[in-house]
Parts: sequence; structure tokens; C-alpha cells
Amino acid sequence: MDGGIAIEAENLTKTYGSFTAISDINLKVRKGEFMGLVGPNGAGKSTTLKAITGLLQPTSGTVRISGIDIKDHRHAMEHVGCVIETPEPYPGFTPAEILTYTGKMYGMDQAEIAIRSRDVLEQVKMWDWRGKTISGFSKGMRQRIVLAQALLPNPEIIILDEPTSGLDPRGMVETRKVLQNLKSKDRTLLISTHILSEVSELCGSITMIRDGRVIASGDVATLVRGSVKKGVTLLVGTVRPVSEETLSSVSGMEGVRSAEHKGDNTVVIEFDGTPDQQAEVTRAMFESGAGVLWINEKGATLESMYMEMTEEGS
Ligand SMILES: Nc1ncnc2c1ncn2[C@@H]1O[C@H](COP(=O)(O)OP(=O)(O)OP(=O)(O)O)[C@@H](O)[C@H]1O
Ligand SMILES: [Mg+2]
Repeated sequence: MDGGIAIEAENLTKTYGSFTAISDINLKVRKGEFMGLVGPNGAGKSTTLKAITGLLQPTSGTVRISGIDIKDHRHAMEHVGCVIETPEPYPGFTPAEILTYTGKMYGMDQAEIAIRSRDVLEQVKMWDWRGKTISGFSKGMRQRIVLAQALLPNPEIIILDEPTSGLDPRGMVETRKVLQNLKSKDRTLLISTHILSEVSELCGSITMIRDGRVIASGDVATLVRGSVKKGVTLLVGTVRPVSEETLSSVSGMEGVRSAEHKGDNTVVIEFDGTPDQQAEVTRAMFESGAGVLWINEKGATLESMYMEMTEEGS
């Protein structure tokens, strides 16, 4: 990661007549960073991604890919692979034919197309289907083919609009794995998704939009931590029961509202103090001699932050 900016949107606005679909959207994705774009239906995710990939012209604002303004230089998009909304690959063709066509568009030669096609079709688990006509494919299978198309030229920057929507659970896991593998290749990824666990698993940073505006942006863990207002519940699972003595001493610690047994080997701690105080509580539990197996923190999740930030009227 050289710290450069791969994708930059500056004050992106798109209006349709008097309706503003997105307003003053700013985002920056550093090289090697994986960013998730989330927000309710109609928030403006697809519009933002379309503007970033040049599929629509913003009413105002600038998009730079690796520092190059895409308005002036179409070649800025050469290193970008993208899938926006649910595109339909040409139904009368086979995956092999589509990838050959795509490869030619990118100026790849026959040998390169053959090698890359096999690679991407294997990645999306569609190699065995390479000679079959796409018209018989399910939605999820088509989705995999368009992902293969996007990855064919081995792009440095990948922009995907809901890449796992419509896939079965195995397809979701496999697609996430394909994307996860791009990390080791130092690729940059910007994806929109409604699946928050996908963001937690895949992305280091997040941009949240609502009603066409950015409402939060930054490091996922930092934002989630910062959003905790009502405190958290800590569930602590232990090998042996926690002694009454430990429980009463933890109850008296700063930030702890209550600490109680829940079953023989689980303790529930209601906590609303600072991160440092929470670390002290965790330490006390580890030093209790009960043998901490796991600690589950509820209330500090991406989901709880999302629910809070997208609440009607907030
Ligand atoms: N061509 C268009 N003409 C008029 N309004 C549009 C057009 N395209 C999008 N919009 C509106 O812009 C807003 C943002 O739409 P967009 O598709 O970007 O949302 P989204 O966040 O991708 O939603 P979803 O999660 O449902 O995919 C919506 O209110 C939508 O109706
Ligand atoms: Mg959309």
C-alpha cells in the first residue's frame, strides 16, 4: 500500500429535475483499502457508484481515479473493473464467449484471454459452465459471470454494486472469498451492500449514506466504537463458575452498572464507561481464575450503529 488515493469523489451531486438523488457526496478510498458503501434503499448508493464509474454524468462534482479526473481522461477507467446494479450478460452467449468479447474490449490477446478466463471462471466456480448458454442460468449464476467479467483484466480497482445479492449462502461465502483474495493482491475495493456482516468481514472502512448524503465515513471499528451511546452488554463465558467475590468486585468497578450470573458459566455485565475502564473489567475477568473462554460484546456492532443512524426522524 503506497498510501495514494485510488478513488476520490468530491462534492458529487446528481439531480433529476427537482429531485436530488445524491448531494455533495465526498469519499476517498486509499490504494489497497476495502470500503463498504451502505445505506437504506434509495439512499443513493447505485447513483454514487454510477457517477464514480462514469456510467452517469453527475450534475456537479469531480471523480478522480488514481488522481486522474475521469471527465477529461477516459483512460483513467482502464484499471477499474466494475459491476453496477444487476446487469444482464447477453443471454444468447456462453460465459467463454462473453469473456472473449470482454477481453478483446480491454485489448487483451487470445492467449491472455484464455488464461485469465479460466482463472476468473474457476474463482467464481463457473468453469464447468463455460460452454453453456447463459439464457438457462439462474440469477446467481449470471451474477457470478458478471463478476468474472469485472475481474478478467486483473483490475487494480474494483467497484461492485451489491455483488452478493441474489446468491445462495454458499455463493455469498464463495464470492466473499474471491473478494477477500484480492486483498493479498493489494487491490482496492469499493462495494455497496445491504449485508452488514459483509462489511465487517471484508472492509476496513465504511461510508454510510442516507437520503443522498454521507452521514458517516471512516474506519469501521472506530466508527462502531464511537457510536456506542447507551453502553454495552458484555457476556463472559468461563470454564468454571465465577466466584461471588469476583462478581461483587467487578460490580464495584467504574463504568459497571451491574454484573450478574447467567447460568453456571456465563456472566452478564452491563457497562457504560470508557474504553479504558472496559479494558480493566476485561482484565479483572481474565484474572478471576474462572478461565475466560469467550467475551461477547453486544451493543457495539455495525448493525446497532446502522439502526441508530438510519432511524426515521433522527
Ligand atoms: N433515472 C432516475 N430518475 C429519477 N430518479 C432516479 C433515477 N435513478 C435513481 N433515482 C432516484 O435516486 C434515488 C437514489 O437511488 P439509488 O438507486 O442510487 O439508491 P440505492 O441506494 O442504490 O438503493 P438500493 O439499496 O435500493 O439499491 C432514489 O430515490 C431513486 O428513485
Ligand atoms: Mg442500488
